[in-house]
Amino acid sequence: MTQAQAGSGALEALLQEDRRFPPPAELAANASVRDPQIYAAAGRDPEAYWAARAEEQVSWFRPWEQVLEWKAPFAKWFVGAEVNASYNCVDRHLQGPRADKPAIVFEGEPGDTRTITYRDLYAQVNLAAATLRRLGVKKGDKVAIYLPMIPEAAVVMLACARLGAPHTVVFGGFSPESLADRINDCQASYVVTSDGGWRRGAVVPLKANTDAALERTSTVKTCVVVRRVGDAAGVSMKEGRDVWWHEALEQTTESGQTECPPERLDAEHPLFILYTSGSTGKPKGILHTTGGYLVGTSLTHKWIFDLKEDDVFWCTADVGWVTGHSYVVYGPLCNGATCVMFEGTPDYPDKDRFWALVARHKVTILYTAPTAIRSFMRWGEAYPRRHDMSSLRLLGTVGEPINPEAWMWYREHIGGGRCPIVDTWWQTETGAIMISPLPGLTTTKPGSATLPFPGIDVDVVDERGDPVPLGRGGYLVVRRPWPAMLRTLWGDDERYIQTYWSKYPGMYFAGDGCRRDEEGYYWFLGRVDDVLNVSAHRIGTMELESALVSHPSVAEAAVIGIPDEITGQAIAAFVTPKMGVNADEALNHTLRQHVAQKIGPIARPKLIRFTSELPKTRSGKIMRRLLRDIAEGRILGDTSTLLDAGVVAQIKEQYEAQEA
Ligand code: WTA
Repeated sequence: MTQAQAGSGALEALLQEDRRFPPPAELAANASVRDPQIYAAAGRDPEAYWAARAEEQVSWFRPWEQVLEWKAPFAKWFVGAEVNASYNCVDRHLQGPRADKPAIVFEGEPGDTRTITYRDLYAQVNLAAATLRRLGVKKGDKVAIYLPMIPEAAVVMLACARLGAPHTVVFGGFSPESLADRINDCQASYVVTSDGGWRRGAVVPLKANTDAALERTSTVKTCVVVRRVGDAAGVSMKEGRDVWWHEALEQTTESGQTECPPERLDAEHPLFILYTSGSTGKPKGILHTTGGYLVGTSLTHKWIFDLKEDDVFWCTADVGWVTGHSYVVYGPLCNGATCVMFEGTPDYPDKDRFWALVARHKVTILYTAPTAIRSFMRWGEAYPRRHDMSSLRLLGTVGEPINPEAWMWYREHIGGGRCPIVDTWWQTETGAIMISPLPGLTTTKPGSATLPFPGIDVDVVDERGDPVPLGRGGYLVVRRPWPAMLRTLWGDDERYIQTYWSKYPGMYFAGDGCRRDEEGYYWFLGRVDDVLNVSAHRIGTMELESALVSHPSVAEAAVIGIPDEITGQAIAAFVTPKMGVNADEALNHTLRQHVAQKIGPIARPKLIRFTSELPKTRSGKIMRRLLRDIAEGRILGDTSTLLDAGVVAQIKEQYEAQEA
């Protein structure tokens, strides 16, 4: 284990954590799940359990013939059933009082707001689907969505789902090159973008980025452009390719064909492809299908967040990440919940923006990332104290391990000491939450994601695949298929098998280090592969390295994660410049900028250190472990497999000289 070992001092401290928080009595008495027997029942007959959940959670056009078909590692759930995600998130809520309940409460960065009821959502999703259909989108076509956090993002996702056109949402912070790679990989024939988005008062030029991306692609027929920032964006439209969304919608309205019935889709019809970083340079296209994903996301949303009809749920994630897919759009809307959607950042125009939103929209459930909580801690409790946050009743975290101090601060200063916290572990691949408290049943411990969700069969194993005793660290695996699991990597079954199912035959390898305490509670230790977690965003070291070596001044590069108080991990790069290149401050700046341009601003390295060589094994593999040791000032471990042990001392010297 690599990063997990690195943090072993912190781990000891974690395991001595002895604070306990039982569920508040009132919440427990009325919680979505009150019977602890559910764990045993789900374990005894998982298929019967999932079938019962599938019936409760989702409306099917046609029932399944078989709950699960498992030809390891390929799963089909609810075989033979027909379903539509858009129907489940929209149409079925129109019967009864939910029709006039807000589905999406939007607040833009400049402060503009929009409330969209389920009835409005029905009209908008229909109009959007009818418009996409009129523009030529058919079942099976791939639609890339590159939008800010505005309601149109959710509406277009649901419109695609209605037509059976899988979407691939690309985070608005990604570069044109990253967008182009994703379009090319899944052969998207449509892009939906906007003229721009607001970020800290400035315009993010999404349309200009899309133009640049489309220079590098050949599959896109039509580019739809949502007007978000108006004149400030100054976009240019390409004749025959680009279409303004508002004009297209108007034409559909004029045509009178404003309804678009949901396609009856097979339960295994692809719902979306979402790219995420892996341990090679090429992002993986995680494929999720319809039926199982809806069951998993809506069920976990209802049980883990203890959803009640009048809750106002706010998940702060961007729709460009899986958390935004599962807990801004599909899970909550499938449950008929009211969701807050926010375009901006927590510190603009001031550091109390989140708390102003909580107070203004009377948010009852807040779901955010530890990295955000650590920023709030640093800014101080005066900011939340400015606002009345008594509406909050439950808090959640996701994306990275949460340190107990941040957990306690969140509880005290955001939750007023009364709200339970659900620390939820899951991944883009798992589709839905896998390990988390159930707030009416589970006694929580700060820093632990607690226990597997009912019906989820996880374990912690050693290098050989044997379960490790309680108290010892190991690798997290999943032993049994689950409905919201990824089905494959888009167009690459082989890589799917290799990445997830080959380390231990028959078990899903998550890539996370984990330890269980004496009571069987799970404590996550971070990634064990070459994937960094920076501000709860996954970034592959290989992607960063290829971005660096693509610069003409760079001969070689190695990237590692270093601990960072706010972002969890930060990106540090060791760079060997080409002969004759001046390794100065200017080059350092240029290279950091270069990476941000190649991948996106989230990938900008925090620091770059120039070295004349990199430590390698005899087979030529860069030894990142040694670089981590150097960066963290640790005594060097075993270097016997090194090609040239002298290199390490030299790098250490150069590193320390640049530190000074
Ligand atoms: C990490 C985000 C500890 C983990 C939903 C995982 C966590 C990766 C937690 C997936 C948590 C996520 N505690 N670690 N509660 N939640 N992680 O695909 O390393 O963006 O493998 O999905 O984030 O990141 P992804």
